[in-house]
Amino acid sequence: MQKLGIIGTNWITGQFVEAARTAEAFELTAVYSRTAAKAQQFRTDYEAGAAQDYTDLATFFIAGDFATVYIASPNSLHFEQAKQALEAGKNVIVEKPAFSNPTEMATIQAILKDRPDQFLFEAARHVHEANFKIAQAAIQALPTINGATLAYMKYSSRYDAVLAGEEPNIFSRHFSGGALQDLGVYVVYDAVSWFGAPESVDYQAEILPTGVDGKGVATLHYADFDVTLIFGKTVDSYLNSEIYSGQTTIVLDNAGTIGTVSRYENDGAQKTALGQAPLANPMVAEATIFAEIIANRDTKRYHELLQLSQTVNQVVYQLRQSAGIVFDAD
Ligand SMILES: NC(=O)c1ccc[n+]([C@@H]2O[C@H](COP(=O)([O-])OP(=O)(O)OC[C@H]3O[C@@H](n4cnc5c(N)ncnc54)[C@H](OP(=O)(O)O)[C@@H]3O)[C@@H](O)[C@H]2O)c1
Repeated sequence: MQKLGIIGTNWITGQFVEAARTAEAFELTAVYSRTAAKAQQFRTDYEAGAAQDYTDLATFFIAGDFATVYIASPNSLHFEQAKQALEAGKNVIVEKPAFSNPTEMATIQAILKDRPDQFLFEAARHVHEANFKIAQAAIQALPTINGATLAYMKYSSRYDAVLAGEEPNIFSRHFSGGALQDLGVYVVYDAVSWFGAPESVDYQAEILPTGVDGKGVATLHYADFDVTLIFGKTVDSYLNSEIYSGQTTIVLDNAGTIGTVSRYENDGAQKTALGQAPLANPMVAEATIFAEIIANRDTKRYHELLQLSQTVNQVVYQLRQSAGIVFDAD
């Protein structure tokens, strides 16, 4: 197993560490937290007693015994932390959305160009899962595309704090938060993976008092069709997602966490289930693939993922500009 350091001690890091262990991909050897007690608690909770703790980021990178760092800090911190990691010779797995804008992305790409032996992955977990690939194959088999509606809306427990007049990181412009950054990025990943980069975009966002979007509807315009994206963090949606091709429709239960994939034909008379039961931990697939790419130095697959990440970053930024949302990072 490859040695892993982590930044951020929230539940998502725990889920990744468990996934990495299940996949026999990475073992946790170094923990960075701003507070020693949290680092220690994390190791206890996730049974990584032998890992070393660090509360100073520079020391973590210099002295930490690991080749790859998983970064799950607030979005606005990803750029500086990833940059520091690359400069310290580490591989990086950075949570989505990897970077706040194309300027940050370009800086990272330039560093990577000078360091061809290192890898940087955006942890867009769903694109590595079996049902995403099953959906992709079903979409590629369609004779033509007439559009799509992709939805991912989930009420955030942290929205309660916004309603109470507070500004949690994920709803803050200081931390590059908002619905587009947090959940919209999944459906942008879907659209870019399945249909390519759009010709133009627009986003009608509901802006919260904190200055970021709570939910909204975006349209990606392609040469022959439009894709509607519906995403948000202030309500729960149970809408299916659909990809249209004449009288055939591919139906997903959810475009961000794909539990089922079906093909409907003949006025709905013929329904074919295509998907698989998802793995219990949705991060196992990405942990497996990142470790494989690093171990096999699979630069072809790696560059495809990096290109996808860059296009998604560009589209998310264009959508954000269309809604007039500005971050400190800009
Ligand atoms: N892939 C997925 O399914 C998924 C799910 C959830 C979140 N995420 C992503 O994971 C990342 C973290 O999300 P989150 O909701 O866990 O964020 P968060 O709770 O705001 O922060 C995550 C961690 O970062 C550190 N941190 C918090 N505030 C900080 C600050 N002001 N300065 C420096 N460090 C700070 C904390 O660790 P310490 O106190 O130990 O330093 C905290 O545990 C985001 O990029 C998010 O998009 C992905």
